[in-house]
Amino acid sequence: MEIRTLKIEDYDSLIALWESANLPYKPQGRDSKREMKRQIECDSDLMLGAFEDGNLIGVIFGTDDGRKGWINRLAVEPSHERKGLAKKLILAVEDALRARGRKIICTLIEDWNKGSLILFKKMDYVKHEDIFYLSKREDDDV
Ligand SMILES: CC(C)(COP(=O)(O)OP(=O)(O)OC[C@H]1O[C@@H](n2cnc3c(N)ncnc32)[C@H](O)[C@@H]1OP(=O)(O)O)[C@@H](O)C(=O)NCCC(=O)NCCS
Repeated sequence: MEIRTLKIEDYDSLIALWESANLPYKPQGRDSKREMKRQIECDSDLMLGAFEDGNLIGVIFGTDDGRKGWINRLAVEPSHERKGLAKKLILAVEDALRARGRKIICTLIEDWNKGSLILFKKMDYVKHEDIFYLSKREDDDV
């Protein structure tokens, strides 16, 4: 297994992985091929894939807002779950964010996603009971 930065040529495999992991994505918005190309050009060090025999089996995106690092879009191919792959991807993106000087790394987890909550807590992330997530969107597709 190899973890490397993603290329735009990995786009179709990326979509297939999110679909097989049942992770909703925004094909008309921030997960479109055009947007993905832009993100890879800006932040190639933070967009990581795990590959086995050339096949994409895990993915994670970091984002850096200049104050905090964020973890997004983590997914592992179902046939490779519970082998520690998500942990490896999280550690790899944490390293990349730390290399940019980020000292706080955060993630957003939907309340139904108990497995992810256990995973991040196990990796020393602290759940904030006193914070609400608010967002303002142009439309539902972005
Ligand atoms: C959540 C997900 C990324 C975990 O990937 P993974 O490679 O299986 O995770 P790991 O093997 O690194 O798990 C490490 C630990 O996290 C916990 N964990 C992971 N998935 C879990 C689950 N479904 N239920 C309970 N605990 C879980 C366990 O403590 C696990 O250790 P263990 O297997 O020794 O018990 C994967 O199941 C997935 O892609 N899910 C669908 C997409 C998704 O929800 N993405 C996250 C969005 S925030």
